[in-house]
Amino acid sequence: MVRGKFIIAAVISFTTLLISSQVFAQADVIEKRQQAMKGNSADAKAIKAAVESKDYATIETKAKDIMGTAEKIPGLFPKGSTAGKTKATAAIWEKSDDFAKAAKNLGKAASELAAAAKAKDDAEIGVKVKALGDACGSCHKAFRAEKYAE
Ligand code: HEC
Repeated sequence: MVRGKFIIAAVISFTTLLISSQVFAQADVIEKRQQAMKGNSADAKAIKAAVESKDYATIETKAKDIMGTAEKIPGLFPKGSTAGKTKATAAIWEKSDDFAKAAKNLGKAASELAAAAKAKDDAEIGVKVKALGDACGSCHKAFRAEKYAE
């Protein structure tokens, strides 16, 4: 009997360990993608300031930064990473093609902005900055919750 209880206790604590390590791993994943998004935000702000000062080199560099992040976005949202302080909605995995498309759309907008900056074309830069903002916003609208899940 005593032995049975020990086994049960061992199984329970092992399960707890397993669950908590999974939650931990998920917290890391969530933290990582939120950091990437914060990076997007910092890049977008730097772009806005650079547009004001006609700093074309910075616009181009930051737009390329966003291109790099955009490519990583789908991989930053592994299936089931929903436990924790996250605003990710189930739609990300239910409509994963659309989510991937939204990430591609961001990469395209960033790439076109980089090209406009390289050409020092102010009018085109204005159009592409707006397209970039729309690419962030439309994905958030479709796939980001207003509030954290926790
Ligand atoms: C393909 C979809 C997609 C695109 C494109 C996208 N985001 Fe996000 N973003 C998300 C999702 C989903 C979250 C919620 C992540 C979470 O809480 O786990 C998020 C969260 C954020 C956050 C909050 C991060 C935090 O600390 O909680 C910021 C800031 C952000 N995005 C900025 C941007 C900016 C700026 C752009 C464009 C340059 C952008 N995002 C493009 C999907 C996207």
